[in-house]
Amino acid sequence: MTSPQPPRVRPSRVRFGVLVVGLGLLLAACAENAPQDTLEPEGPISRQIDDLVTPIFWVAIVIGLAVLAAILYASWAFRRSRQGEDYIPPQIHGNTRLEIGWTIAPAVLLAVIAVPTVSTILDLADRPADAMDVTVYGAQWWWEYEYPSTSTRGPVVTANELHIPIDQPVHLTMTSRDVIHSYWVPKLAGKKDVVPGRWHTLTIQADEPGEYFGQCVEFCGASHANMRLRVIAHTPDEFEDWLDHNAADRTAPPAGSLEATGEDLITAKGCTTCHVLRGVSTADQIEALRGRLIRVDGDPTPFAPDLTHVGSRGTFAGSLFDLNIGELKAWLRNPPERKDGSLMPNLNLTEDEIDALANYLLSLD
Ligand code: CUA
Repeated sequence: MTSPQPPRVRPSRVRFGVLVVGLGLLLAACAENAPQDTLEPEGPISRQIDDLVTPIFWVAIVIGLAVLAAILYASWAFRRSRQGEDYIPPQIHGNTRLEIGWTIAPAVLLAVIAVPTVSTILDLADRPADAMDVTVYGAQWWWEYEYPSTSTRGPVVTANELHIPIDQPVHLTMTSRDVIHSYWVPKLAGKKDVVPGRWHTLTIQADEPGEYFGQCVEFCGASHANMRLRVIAHTPDEFEDWLDHNAADRTAPPAGSLEATGEDLITAKGCTTCHVLRGVSTADQIEALRGRLIRVDGDPTPFAPDLTHVGSRGTFAGSLFDLNIGELKAWLRNPPERKDGSLMPNLNLTEDEIDALANYLLSLD
């Protein structure tokens, strides 16, 4: 008795399936809106990297195709069905000339590629003479930026969204408060690791005003994927206005307003223990928090974004959410539920408190 055979899958169907899956994978690589496309540089620094990558890419393509063609030729020309059962192809093991050739050729090629590579690396490591300085602090899971004070204004501190002027190099000096992060804005510059206990530098520059997307690119814990960032480039005049505006303390809300209730809650709920809000935080609180930028070993004190002008930002919580009343309220209801591992605790606020706080934070422009 013969057992029933499973239905045979026709080879043409298999081929069709492979084709569909293959094409699907290939087309999935295309994107119309790809704000983090490193292959479309929008500043001189990222362009310098692209100018290095593109020629090396084509050299690699030519070599890759040559190797593939050689493999296909060898498997076709020397296949058993063509040459017969006992056929042994000519053996070239120990052929000195060939072996020297294929040792030297790649070595020469790598040496040639090394010249522009090393010179670009050294060039990008320099701090351009006309650069503007910003200090960057990575923390689980957001970014803090500090613009040094000048003779006419105090320091400016903001979170997640880095504002820069166009056509000027911006030299970032970066460290981390906790674990290793990595800073990357693909259209404006390469990546740089952000390491606790060390200072690393990275220069970025944008050609045009606009918003550039970036994110942390070193696995740093539960919300690594939620540690995003934006760079917002302005014309030089607009940028100066932004700096002046952000150097000022918050504007006090009108007495008796919902926003004023919100401001009272900021103090009552202890928000200023972790957040700086200039005009509301005491001088001691601000000094204590600035001192916590670099965490001392074993100090578990949370450290949170400066709120002085939070209402002027487009996003919050590591640029994870758009800044609007709905997202802000949802956040205040239960932050750790909205963002894995968030150090902002659930304060068990009432809906009235949430309403007052959200409206107040939005008013801080
Ligand atoms: Cu920070 Cu990944």
